[in-house]
Amino acid sequence: MTSPTNPKTFRVKSFGCQMNVYDGERMGEMLAAQGLSEAGEGAEPDLVVLNTCHIREKAAEKVYSDIGRLKREDGSRPMIAVAGCVAQAEGSEIMRRAKTVDIVVGPQAYHRLPDLVAKAAAGEEALDTDMPARSKFDVLPGRSKSRRTSAFLTVQEGCDKFCTYCVVPYTRGAEVSRPWAAIIDEAKALVDAGAREITLLGQNVNAWTGEDEAGRSQGLDGLIRALDRLPGLARIRYTTSHPNDMADGLIAAHGDVEKLMPYLHLPVQAGSDRILKAMNRSHTRDSYMRLLDRIRVVRPDIALSGDFIVGFPGETDEDFEATMELVREVRYAHAFSFKYSPRPGTPAADMDDHVSAAVMDERLKLLQAEIIAGQVAFNQGCLGRVTQVLLDRVGRHPGQLVGKSPWLQSVVVENATAGSSIGDMLMVELLTAGPNSIGGRIATRAAA
Ligand code: SAH
Ligand code: SF4
Ligand code: F3S
Repeated sequence: MTSPTNPKTFRVKSFGCQMNVYDGERMGEMLAAQGLSEAGEGAEPDLVVLNTCHIREKAAEKVYSDIGRLKREDGSRPMIAVAGCVAQAEGSEIMRRAKTVDIVVGPQAYHRLPDLVAKAAAGEEALDTDMPARSKFDVLPGRSKSRRTSAFLTVQEGCDKFCTYCVVPYTRGAEVSRPWAAIIDEAKALVDAGAREITLLGQNVNAWTGEDEAGRSQGLDGLIRALDRLPGLARIRYTTSHPNDMADGLIAAHGDVEKLMPYLHLPVQAGSDRILKAMNRSHTRDSYMRLLDRIRVVRPDIALSGDFIVGFPGETDEDFEATMELVREVRYAHAFSFKYSPRPGTPAADMDDHVSAAVMDERLKLLQAEIIAGQVAFNQGCLGRVTQVLLDRVGRHPGQLVGKSPWLQSVVVENATAGSSIGDMLMVELLTAGPNSIGGRIATRAAA
């Protein structure tokens, strides 16, 4: 294969969580600031950045098959950079195993991507998985002006919780909060560029702490209240939160901050205290349920969302049944569920009593059926409501525009294209419900 030279065009492909999507955008902006341009659809980019996820086994395998598929028909290939959490966890292994990878860059070092591109173009080794003391956010260029209705904004990164199954504390490092002023400035830039909704991101976003411009110490609720005062911003969301960091002030904010949407992703992982303990979750089923009660007191219509792992080592039928019961009791609006995947270097990978693949499959099927039933029930419970929908894309059929309800449901609005466009907020009557979307019609046009 011919070795790649100085790239002029690029494409960033992000996998995994929303923070990776955010990081991917930031890498793209940085390459653009260096004079590269994003390859159009169908065009062959000179540089491909695979922004990877390490959370489960298949995710890493996917990276290797993606690398293979980047080979072009004429035998040449683009310059290939592997970024993200697989890069952090397996940097040198990737360089060894995939000879066609030119650059490996970890999540805390991607501000050095332009230098690494120059090194790779000169034929030098370009690997950087440092966790530098100086934050990448101090050196990244300002946000680009591309109009995006709903934008992500990373406010916190890393995790100190060390759940026994999870790689994130190793790939993303210790919990770090971005400073207040940097967040407010970035939020303003996003709103100036057309964002109407901002989702604050963090691996444990509700662990965010900082000082406001007057030097007062603040938690995530303080930051949310400051953003609530930002003209032009219509909606605020945040994800992912840990049950143990749901401070009183944050719960209170759900009751009285108008722009804070009634949606909360609060993973519990399992319903059995024995398994929660083995997972090192440091909350119990009961403390989680009591927390939900307190949130529902201030915001009765809140849509709850969660993550679940089935087949954690030692999980018995009774343990699994406790998870099913919890799902029935909570009535989640939405939830993700995964088969346990042993990750190298995590304590759970060395535990006894691994659950067989067949049992995991069976449990996942049962759990997903229960979750979907809950999603349908939640969506049906919303029918008849007239609510604000923020349009963010065109629909599949003529005349349709699709947007999000306050409860993060996708709402397909009929006959919308004539008078509205993406970025508009409409009042919509919710009429039909499926597991993954709601159908509705325009009630009145809200002020844009
Ligand atoms: N910080 C977030 C979760 C980040 S990872 C939190 O604690 O809520 C996203 C989800 O992936 C987790 O909530 C968990 O359900 C799942 N997950 C993480 N490690 C896993 C593993 N080894 N096997 C299967 N699922 C896993
Ligand atoms: Fe992983 Fe647990 Fe940290 Fe979430 S809280 S990122 S599951 S270690
Ligand atoms: Fe995956 Fe890393 Fe996010 S492992 S889920 S990309 S923090």
